[in-house]
Amino acid sequence: MKVTILTLFPEMFTGPFSCSIIKRAVDKGLVELETVNLRDFAKDRHRTVDDTPYGGGPGMVLKPEPVFDAVAAITGKKGQKSYTVLTTPQGEVFRQQIAAELACKEELLFICGHYEGYDERIRTLADRELSIGDYVLTGGELPAMVMIDAVVRLLPGVLGAPDAASNDSFSAGLLDYPQYTKPAVYKGMAVPDVLLSGHHQQIAAWRRREALLRTAERRPELLAQVALSREDRAFLAGKIPGLFGPEDAQESRKSSEGSAESEKGRIFESKEGSE
Ligand code: ADE
Repeated sequence: MKVTILTLFPEMFTGPFSCSIIKRAVDKGLVELETVNLRDFAKDRHRTVDDTPYGGGPGMVLKPEPVFDAVAAITGKKGQKSYTVLTTPQGEVFRQQIAAELACKEELLFICGHYEGYDERIRTLADRELSIGDYVLTGGELPAMVMIDAVVRLLPGVLGAPDAASNDSFSAGLLDYPQYTKPAVYKGMAVPDVLLSGHHQQIAAWRRREALLRTAERRPELLAQVALSREDRAFLAGKIPGLFGPEDAQESRKSSEGSAESEKGRIFESKEGSE
């Protein structure tokens, strides 16, 4: 993948892109990262890229000419326009699903805004306008870094284990389950027995339940986007009464009895099968 970043502050990218996993991805040739200085496309000797807003008001607005010229130059070199992201607090809020979509593109171009905003005509250059959250930063550089980091780690070969990213928080629409490493007991806090059992199906079932519970407790709104099995719903309704509304709670209580039994049966069956 090739990622180009159009910015007034290329030096901001040096640190984040020259260490850890991103650097390794660059060194392995899995991604090429290039910054282009927007100021190089200013027309006057003061290298002006912003101006006062028509109609009055505070702050400065990014001028259209340097941005259009820069995008034309970047495109001209390659012959084909990259999938173009405009960083703006007015954009769609970035999330894991969008990172996955961007990771499928061959070439990305991030246009980082600064000052009070963009001249509205600049928006016509974008395939997508993205925000990293409902707060306003001094510019689009940090948002671009955040998004590029989230995208690059999804590229094949970037993370060590091939399925490392598929266990992430959000990859199945749920927050991640709790993780532990050695020692088994630390300051009186013990790792749950199931994780030491070596029983893969029980571990997977425990992780699913913990991920469901953690998501329901911390980010219940995410559950609306997740395909929940009857078993999932029964488990959650048993833990958090009223989570699915009063009628659903009743329904889930009924099925909970059945599904708890069937889960026991399933684990028992698979245990037998594996012995
Ligand atoms: N520029 C300033 N704030 C931003 C935000 N929250 N997301 C994307 N771009 C921005």
